[in-house]
Amino acid sequence: MTTRIRNRALLDRRVSAEEAAAMIRPGDTVGMSGFTGAGYPKAIPVALAKRIMDASLRGEKFRVGIWTGASTAPELDGALAMVDGVELRLPYQSDPTCRKKINAGDMEYLDIHLSHVGAFVRQGFLGKLDVALVEVTGIREDGALIPASSIGNNKVWLDSAERVILEVNSWQSESLEGVHDVYQGFALPPNRKPIPLVGPADRIGTPYLQCPLEKIVAIVETNAPDRNAPFSAPDEASKRIAGHILEFLGDEVKKGRLPKNLLPLQSGVGNIANAVLFGLEDGPFTDLTAYTEVLQDGMLSLIASGKLRVASATAFSLSPQKVEELNSQMDRYRDSLILRPQEISNHPELIRRLGCLAMNGMIEADIYGNVNSTHVNGTAIMNGIGGSGDFARNAYISFFMTPSTAKKGAVSCIVPMVTHVDHTEHDVHVLVTEQGLADLRGLSPKQRAERVIEKCAHPDYRPALRDYVRRAGTASFGRHTPHLLDEAFAWHRHLLRTGTMKGA
Ligand code: COA
Repeated sequence: MTTRIRNRALLDRRVSAEEAAAMIRPGDTVGMSGFTGAGYPKAIPVALAKRIMDASLRGEKFRVGIWTGASTAPELDGALAMVDGVELRLPYQSDPTCRKKINAGDMEYLDIHLSHVGAFVRQGFLGKLDVALVEVTGIREDGALIPASSIGNNKVWLDSAERVILEVNSWQSESLEGVHDVYQGFALPPNRKPIPLVGPADRIGTPYLQCPLEKIVAIVETNAPDRNAPFSAPDEASKRIAGHILEFLGDEVKKGRLPKNLLPLQSGVGNIANAVLFGLEDGPFTDLTAYTEVLQDGMLSLIASGKLRVASATAFSLSPQKVEELNSQMDRYRDSLILRPQEISNHPELIRRLGCLAMNGMIEADIYGNVNSTHVNGTAIMNGIGGSGDFARNAYISFFMTPSTAKKGAVSCIVPMVTHVDHTEHDVHVLVTEQGLADLRGLSPKQRAERVIEKCAHPDYRPALRDYVRRAGTASFGRHTPHLLDEAFAWHRHLLRTGTMKGA
């Protein structure tokens, strides 16, 4: 085990997970590693949850603030939420127990753009960071930290925290060394300088994270896998959505509005995103690039098939089979993969500079193109905005995708007015459902409404949407973006009362 901690001065800071958890105090804010189930600490959060539970049995209040890169896993978010140990959490999460606690009003949740987290912390907007708890692959002789399967906000935590606790996980493959590119040039306004990245393949930093050794108060050795979900093949709706997008991209190339190898792809996680990636494998495009947050199975397959030249992200989110393939064949993949801090992977200036094609999921869109990605019925959080806002606002073309209905057809994902807005009509260029694709660029609100209804809404809901638009359009005033304010949320009200939007 000691081979992973090659700096001799740090060997005597090894402790058990319980001893490390005892160094976290009630009221502390802890910056934890982890991004989409990769590279999160696996032993100390569980030990901390136990400590919190013991305190609660003694009638003592023990809660901490948790900041992460993005979503983590049951051993972190789930364990701490289960014991009511989290006062406030940020940013993106997708844990069912967390979601339940947040929606029950028992946990505060700050859902902010992933690109904002680092800047907010560095500028002190969020208060003091007491502890950084970061998983790494190993520690070199000179004390440099070899990052694990995600970087996320780790550099921010290591730079900003008062004390640092490390988990050195020997499950993380040593072949990861060299894949990362950690930019060292961050500065706050007014001293910011242009970030020297002009293509997804550019390396602008070093492969290691740095931390003053005196800040490291404890090191725990672990050997535990990331939360790697098994791959599930794309369903029919996802394949149809992917088909519409690939046809659209082909047309844009024919019209000379996109180069033959497209532009850097950003792709959210999940079934639909993977379906698009698998569609690209069979499609005509070659020499592709990706500038995204998360590398999922489809990206590795595209690299293996020779279609994707380089993929830049901040984390892996792979199935167990793909992790094995990656680790055993790293030499094949190494030159095509770069993991960066999320301050770089999600940097709005870089996304605009590169001209990314951003593809993200949504909960619902309205007839004018506003998108709700986060709140069911405008009140209950699903996951969070994640990086979708960073990419959508700055993309060359921003796509939002969903099946046209949810809950076995009881819910239309195209509605008169969204109940919560994450992406305004100004940031949404293309909406896609299995029914079709609506290119909204250059259309006025009334033109957009017609296109969204005819191309994207499910046929069961089209007549009611047409009727809404027709009646709203007869108002004597307010005909730029016509609405019936008494009825705009009638579909959602009907859903809450009856369990379906049908007959609203
Ligand atoms: N009303 C109510 N529930 C809805 C709904 C709607 N209009 N649309 C979807 N849902 C429910 C589904 O029924 C499903 O619920 P279940 O888990 O109980 O079955 C759940 O939302 C997820 O929907 P699904 O169709 O499986 O989509 P998904 O896994 O692709 O997730 C988002 C869709 C919007 C939740 C997801 O893309 C997300 O969190 N996006 C925001 C963050 C983001 O875009 N990140 C990208 C960069 S990583």
